[in-house]
This record gives sequence, C-alpha cells and structure tokens, in this order.
Amino acid sequence: MASLLLTHIGTLVGLHPKGIMMLRGAEMAQLPVLENAWLLCEEGLISDFGTMDALPLQLPNELETRSAEGGYVLPSWCDSHSHIVFAAPREEEFVMKIAGKSYEEIAAAGGGILNSAAKMQLATEEDLFEAAAIRLNDMIRQGTGALEVKSGYGLSLASELKMLRVIRRLKDSFPIPIKASFLAAHAFPIAYKNNHQGYISLIIDQMLPQIAEEGLADYMDVFCEQGFFSLEETDQLLTAAAPYGLKPKIHANQLSISGGVQIGLKHQAVSVDHLEATDEAAIASLASGNTMATLLPSCSFYLGIPFANARALIQSNVPVALASDYNPGSTPSGNMNFVLSLGCIKLKMLPEEAINACTLNGAAAMELSALTGSITKGKKANLILTRPLSSLAFLPYSFGQLQIKTIILNGKIY
Ligand code: NIG
Ligand code: FE
Repeated sequence: MASLLLTHIGTLVGLHPKGIMMLRGAEMAQLPVLENAWLLCEEGLISDFGTMDALPLQLPNELETRSAEGGYVLPSWCDSHSHIVFAAPREEEFVMKIAGKSYEEIAAAGGGILNSAAKMQLATEEDLFEAAAIRLNDMIRQGTGALEVKSGYGLSLASELKMLRVIRRLKDSFPIPIKASFLAAHAFPIAYKNNHQGYISLIIDQMLPQIAEEGLADYMDVFCEQGFFSLEETDQLLTAAAPYGLKPKIHANQLSISGGVQIGLKHQAVSVDHLEATDEAAIASLASGNTMATLLPSCSFYLGIPFANARALIQSNVPVALASDYNPGSTPSGNMNFVLSLGCIKLKMLPEEAINACTLNGAAAMELSALTGSITKGKKANLILTRPLSSLAFLPYSFGQLQIKTIILNGKIY
C-alpha cells in the first residue's frame, strides 16, 4: 500500500494524545494544533507528523507527496446518529410543516415514521442500498469519515432485517467505519396501536434473537417519547437487549422531558441523543456518568423546535457530541459542516468545542475513539483537508459553504 505525505499544512488540528477517549466539560475547549506541519500516512494509519522545518529524513519507498497548500487538516467528522436507510423522502410533510403543522400532528395524521414504514415494506434491499449509498457518498464528500446508521422504518421482523442487512452492505462497501443500531422501537405499527405489549413481545421474542444471531446490530435504540415508547417500555426493551450485548444509544427528550436520559444512564447507554427538552435532573444524571450527550441541531433547525442547552451541559461537565440525525422526517440532510455551524451559531459552542463534538466525541458515541476522531499516531488516516482559512473559526462561521478541498480515507485520497 502506497504511503501518503501531506506537506505545507497551514494548521494540523485535533492532536489529542493517545488514550484520550472523550472530552467533557471544560476539556471540550481544548483542541491542540500544530502550525506549518506535515503528516505521514502509512498502511492506512496516521504514522507521524511534525513541523515543516523538520521533515522526516527517512521516508517510505512507495510514497505519494501532496502539498496541502496552506490549508487546514482535521480528523474526518464522526457522525454518530443517522437514519440514512429509507425508501423515500417526505417532501409532502415538509409542505404541511410550512403550512403550520407540527411534527406530532403530522405523525398523528399517519405521516411521520409510519409513512416511512409503509414505504419500507415495499422497497427492495437493492433499491434501499442504492439510495442509501448515494446519501452516504454525499456525506463522505462533505467530510464524514465514520457513521452510525439506524434501522427503525421496518417495524416488522422482515423489514427490520431488510434494513439491517442494507446497513451491513454499507459496512462492507464503504471505506469508513459504520455502526448499526436496532431501532424497531421507533413507533408502534398501526396494528399494535392498542397492543403495545404485543409489539414489544415481537421485538423481544422474535426480532432480537435473530438480529443477534446474524450479528446485524451493534446497539439498541428506542424512541422514548410521549406518544411513542414510554419510560417503562424503554426500560423493558433495554433490559431485554442487554444479554445480547446490545448497549443502548437512545432517542431521549426530543419533544418533551421523558425521563429517557435517566433510563439511558441506568442502562449505561453509550449515548443519549436529542435532549432538546432537557431539565436539570437530566443534566445532573449525565454529569454523574460516562454516557455521551449527543445533540442534533439540524433537527431543531428543520423542525423549528428548541435547540438543546449545550452550554448548561458543558458547564455541568457533561461530554457532548454533535451528529446529523439524517432522516426523511426531521433532518433531511447529513451535512456535518452545517451541524458544526449550528453547534456554534445556535448552541453557542466555541469552534473548538464544536469541532471536538463532531470528531473525538462523535467517535466516542460509537465506541470508535481508539480508532478515529483525532490526529493521533496509530489512528485511522481519515482526514479533511480544507482550503487555506483565515482562522479555524472561519470553518463554522462560513455556514453553508463547503471549505473542504480533499477527503482522505485510510491514508488515500478519496
Ligand atoms: O431522530 N425522533 C425520532 N426519529 C427521528 C425522526 C424520524 C422520522 O420522522 O422519520 C429523529 O428525529
Ligand atoms: Fe434520530
């Protein structure tokens, strides 16, 4: 495998020491950099870096050298929350929203997740894969270098398996690490509207064993929310998933304070996600654990719901990650550069905090931070190379404008 030497890097960003798995509270503002740098990638990994006045004398034989021309080099975005496998977009709901309907009203009228689930039943694995691959390719071009993808539009054994098999195909076909979350507990199918325990039994007795047997999921997800899965139901589902080794990553406190954060903490969730409606009790419980608080500001932006209180979380020493939530209903975009901008503009995160939240902490929310999420020797050489920027803050400041010039995955130009 050819090696790659990047020279003339204006600023190399995110040099966290080996062994730092996540950043919490005040640590999140620490983003070590190196000016006027070079970086060497060997065997797909970051093997060394330094300043241009001390270029390495001994270089590998098969070497490609590329000048960064003064641009910034960052670790790729680690997007720890997405729903990119879906059969069709939902622009009709977009128009309903413009006319004043809320997310809950659209869902109650048969739109929302159930609308996507109906289309999912009819879609073939091939069509789903092709559509998801197009979305993922766009995300990679926008700098995403690690991703989590959820099921949850199947809501039946066959369709949940179909979605998870598509995610497995994405894992096998794309050069970035991908984690899969099992989200059959996304909504109650119409047939189980008045028989919640019937659907929960279907998940626990039929879906979980088969998914575990085929090794199709890494995590268990539940949409813990009024009108969706109650606290007790969430507890029951997370308890049932534990023996299969499926740790929780859950949707909590999106539309209301559900107690989902505390249930997540009780089950040592890898992350609790959304938190738009988070109260002091939830923040206090997050401060006491190691669960990542994953915020999804492009969902707030799109739905017009409140933005999460990132400042209170960070002040309370909670680790915070940012992710896209790419899905057809609440966030039809997987652009992490926009998420970064919203993190700064709407969540009032400093650029350093927001970049850490999109990289190392995003990786931690997928248990990938030993592998990626920072410029650290031995980590995957998944990198973003930007145009020359007047400062690091220019990246989130120039929202909606792509500053990325080159993507490097596994030490190779993509
Ligand atoms: O994360 N909140 C639940 N799930 C998605 C939305 C799903 C949909 O509307 O299709 C979310 O926002
Ligand atoms: Fe989501």
